[in-house]
Amino acid sequence: MIPSRQWTSELMAARNMPPHIVRHSRQVRLVSLFVARSLLDAGFAIDMQLVDRAALLHDICKADTIRRGGDHALMGRRLMEEFGYRRIGLVIGQHVRLDSMDVNEAMVVNYSDKRVMHDRVVSLERRFIDLMERYGTSEQSMERILRHFEQASEVERVLARASGIEPARLELLNLVAGNHTFDRGQGFL
Ligand SMILES: [Fe+2]
Repeated sequence: MIPSRQWTSELMAARNMPPHIVRHSRQVRLVSLFVARSLLDAGFAIDMQLVDRAALLHDICKADTIRRGGDHALMGRRLMEEFGYRRIGLVIGQHVRLDSMDVNEAMVVNYSDKRVMHDRVVSLERRFIDLMERYGTSEQSMERILRHFEQASEVERVLARASGIEPARLELLNLVAGNHTFDRGQGFL
């Protein structure tokens, strides 16, 4: 069961999602849909609606954890489970770390989130340099970020091979408004 776009927007408004997180989520949605469409064209069974809604909602609990701490991916998963949207919950729950290296909706949203810094599409390197500058405060945290970067690079290789996408080309999506209807990705780029 997948919620409508209407329900999704209403939930984002009802939970007072801060405007910068809304802009980030819309851009992650755009990248996610483009990657998902390319996978679909390459013969992978990808649910575009699941990708669309999960991308929009992946940070639905982010603001709560900025204020109070906690794991916003896990909280987002639980929130979706409470609404009965288990599949969206599974994708949101994996947007920081993947449970497997399977090419699926969770991998698409996880990767796309790592390619969007604030509301711009950037390279993995750029995104992780930013993370390193902000959170690389000890040798331990630097190593953790570096390991995370290696994992994200592996995901990028897997997705690029599966979809035929050239990762650098995703930055062209910066030319498109984040709330573009996308038109199911036909004839995009
Ligand atoms: Fe997040």
